[in-house]
Amino acid sequence: MNAVILGAGGQLGRALRQEFPDAIALGRAELDVTDATAVRAQNWAGVDVVLNAAAWTAVDAAEDPAHHAAVRAANVDAVGYLAAAAEEHGFALVHISSEYVFDGTHPGPIPEDLPPSPLSVYGRSKADGDAHATGIERHWLVRTTWVVGEGSNFVRTMAGLADRGISPTVVDDQIGRPTFAADLAAGIRHLVETGAPHGTYNLTSDGEPASWADVAKAVFTARGRSADDVTPISTAEYFAGKTGIAPRPLNSVLDLSKIREAGFRPRDWRDALRSHLGGPR
Ligand SMILES: NC(=O)c1ccc[n+]([C@@H]2O[C@H](COP(=O)([O-])OP(=O)(O)OC[C@H]3O[C@@H](n4cnc5c(N)ncnc54)[C@H](OP(=O)(O)O)[C@@H]3O)[C@@H](O)[C@H]2O)c1
Repeated sequence: MNAVILGAGGQLGRALRQEFPDAIALGRAELDVTDATAVRAQNWAGVDVVLNAAAWTAVDAAEDPAHHAAVRAANVDAVGYLAAAAEEHGFALVHISSEYVFDGTHPGPIPEDLPPSPLSVYGRSKADGDAHATGIERHWLVRTTWVVGEGSNFVRTMAGLADRGISPTVVDDQIGRPTFAADLAAGIRHLVETGAPHGTYNLTSDGEPASWADVAKAVFTARGRSADDVTPISTAEYFAGKTGIAPRPLNSVLDLSKIREAGFRPRDWRDALRSHLGGPR
């Protein structure tokens, strides 16, 4: 199978390179997905599947009106260019969605077919990008949450604070599951290699849903600090008086039934966290 990875330098992009070692991996320098001419001019001959891990992911910066055009170029327009190329050249498209397309008020685990109701500029852009991806027949739209891989992420931030002796305050009313990029990439490979029916799949790490404060406590414990060094706070209190902050959904828990039925079992996030932090400090 000939695969091309886009956004290959990001957290998911790096994990996909491990999972698809024979794929052509293109970072932004090799293919800027917002450049319609470059996407059209790319040599897609013989490509079976394109794995699009490129996106604007800075959720708060996306709120700045100065960035709106760039956010939509990467998260909406680029997906349209890739979907058009997929139709023209006959490859399947894997695109990544986010639970930020929802407002977080759904009671319980969120199913794949809940209509979008984004709260933020980033969430709106992801929802509109999803519409491009699902507009073609041969797509897998993979919706995920709280990605942790090689790069900037919450776990890395908390591990750094723990190691520097800092005791943070962390929100305890946003509930979800971290998703280790390795599991996300493995699940994507499963969908592609097994030829799972096209459509939308929730794909996060598994295990008991938790708050960001719970995740921070787990990181602190793994680093030899006390869980009590993490002070819980509500989202409203944490962001009070701060500007330029994107509203966050309180419920980020995605229903994993469909991906499990497709034969993929993601790791429990607590096991994945231990393995992720297992390396040298
Ligand atoms: N991170 C999360 O918690 C999270 C949660 C839910 C869903 N997702 C989704 O998961 C996917 C992967 O996220 P991630 O965590 O791997 O993000 P990431 O680490 O920020 O990686 C995104 C990559 O996309 C690249 N990129 C941005 N604009 C590009 C462009 N115009 N052309 C080519 N490449 C471009 C970035 O390159 P530069 O470094 O040069 O900007 C970066 O390497 C995204 O679709 C994201 O929306 C992420």
